[in-house]
Formats: sequence, C-alpha cells, structure tokens
Amino acid sequence: MSMIEKIAAKQKEEAMRDKLLSENNLSIIEKAASTFGAGKNISATTVEEIVPEAKTASIKGLNNVSGLKTKRLPLDFARLRHYGIITPEDKKTTITEQFRVIKRPLLMSAFGPNPIKNGNLIMITSSLAGEGKSFCAVNLAMSIAMEMDNTVLLVDADVSRPMIPKILGLEENKGLLDLLLNDKLSVPEVLIKTSIEKLSVLTAGTQHPNANELLASQSMGLLLKEIVKRYEDRIIIVDSPPLLLTSEARVLANQMGQIVLVVEAGETSQQTVRETLRQIESCEVVNLIYNKARSFSDKDLYVTYEPY
Ligand SMILES: Nc1ncnc2c1ncn2[C@@H]1O[C@H](COP(=O)(O)OP(=O)(O)OP(=O)(O)O)[C@@H](O)[C@H]1O
Ligand SMILES: [Mg+2]
Repeated sequence: MSMIEKIAAKQKEEAMRDKLLSENNLSIIEKAASTFGAGKNISATTVEEIVPEAKTASIKGLNNVSGLKTKRLPLDFARLRHYGIITPEDKKTTITEQFRVIKRPLLMSAFGPNPIKNGNLIMITSSLAGEGKSFCAVNLAMSIAMEMDNTVLLVDADVSRPMIPKILGLEENKGLLDLLLNDKLSVPEVLIKTSIEKLSVLTAGTQHPNANELLASQSMGLLLKEIVKRYEDRIIIVDSPPLLLTSEARVLANQMGQIVLVVEAGETSQQTVRETLRQIESCEVVNLIYNKARSFSDKDLYVTYEPY
C-alpha cells in the first residue's frame, strides 16, 4: 500500500468511526444469536445500581492527580473521546448505557451469588481483525471502573498489534512480554495505575520477535493464573488477537472464565461466527456483542451463549 493509500484508508476509517459513533451503532445480539442457534438467555440485572451521589463524588476526584497518594498516569479524556471511548465526564449517552448493559451479566458471572470459575478473567475477542475488540475492551474496562465497587485491570494481550497504548496515550512500557521473559519482574512492578482510580493497565510490553509464541506458552498460562489469584477481587479484561487468525488466541481462550465475542455487523458471516463459537466451546460463558450496527432501534438486549 502506498503512503497516499495508507493516509486515505486511515481517513476513511476515521470518518467511518465518527459516523458510527454518531449513531446508535452497538448492540447486543439477540436476533443474531437465535440465528446462530445459540442458547438465548437474557440475563436479569441484579447487580446493584450505582449510588448517583457517590458516583459524582468519585468522578470529581478523578483528575486530581496530585492529590493521589500513588503516582498515576493522567488519562486524556479528549484523546479517549477521539477513539470513541467513554469517559467519566460523559453524560448518559447511548454508548454509556450500552456498556452498562453489556457489563452487568459479566459482573454477575464474576462476583454474583453463583460466580463461575475464574469469572473475573474476561477475554474480549473476535473471529477476524478489526471487528472492534480493543474498542469494546477499553470501553468495557472504563465502564466497569466507573462503578464504585469494581476495580479493573485492563490487559493488552494483542502482543503483535497492541492498541491500548495508542488509545490511552501510553508511552512504551514494560508489560506482559517482559513478565514472560524475566522471572525477576513482578506484576505490580509493571502495572500502570491511571488517573481513574479503579483502572490499572498491563500493556503488551516490549516488542519481541517471538511474541505470539510467548503468548501461547505455558508461562503465559502460569502468569494468568498468578494474575487471577493476585487480583481475585478485580475484573480482568483481556484484549486479544482475533481467534480465527491466530492460534495463540485459541490457547488464551481456553484459560478464560468468560469470553466476549465481538461480531462486526454486516461483515462477519454467520458461518464464521459459528466456526469461532465451535473453537471456544470449552469456555463456560461466551457473550456476543453485535458491533458497528448502522442503526439499532430495539431495546437493550443481551444474550449469553451457552454451548450445546
Ligand atoms: N462501535 C463502534 N463505533 C465506532 N467505531 C468503532 C466501533 N467499534 C470499533 N470501531 C472502530 O473500528 C476500528 C477497529 O476497531 P478496533 O481497533 O477496536 O478493532 P480490533 O478488533 O481490536 O482490531 P484488531 O484485530 O486490529 O486488533 C477502530 O477505528 C475503532 O475505533
Ligand atoms: Mg485490537
């Protein structure tokens, strides 16, 4: 691709994103799930609502970085908005509401009365590239971090195409790959706390030629176990590579408590989604997000896919 073509493609992508963001474009599969033959189970919403006063108080304190005891990375809300990410400054919008609906069943499976094993470890994935994994991962993390009761660790496990530093405006940082290569390094040493008190980030780390192999390695499995144990009270959101294009994503998927499968509206075929669901049927809870739909007038819907 020539430089001019690259610039044109980028402009097109940005224009499309702006257009999508101005519409009600993200919905939760109901029709699609029944088409896929997935079990339909619209979850009850029993997670407690946020106390509005408490939320306002916490949001006011968020940017008071100097007042915080630990040094935290200040997040640039204008930058986040550019990437379509919700921020604590946002009023109630379609997208903030959609992510509230999306997160509830996930929180229930993690910390509800009948929690599932490793339910706090949630992988965001898709069949193919560009379906909106990183967009959904960061928005979900942000939405949960804005709740009073839940702390979130956002992990960038898309080691060959990490997007989280770009969205959050992070410098190059040690992260996942460094932890896998250096026994002496500990998770807290590389964790980045942000100006949103309940949001920490673990980046993909220093680029490495064998990044994909490292992600699929036994060490990664052990590291995930350590993270889940150490941060058992947090929701851990893992942004990951596409499932059908990389074998390491499938290895990762086997270790997750919950999977959120992002499906790009009008792009990903039913057959592709079926094949992906087959690949991850070992995971107890798989949720589908129908992303980038051009218009969606239905009520909030959520479906939990249950493997046959
Ligand atoms: N619901 C949405 N509304 C508006 N823009 C969106 C939406 N979902 C994704 N996008 C945009 O689509 C593009 C691709 O999204 P994203 O980078 O999240 O995909 P991905 O699945 O993580 O891609 P990759 O496979 O390369 O990691 C980005 O420009 C993103 O901002
Ligand atoms: Mg991505």
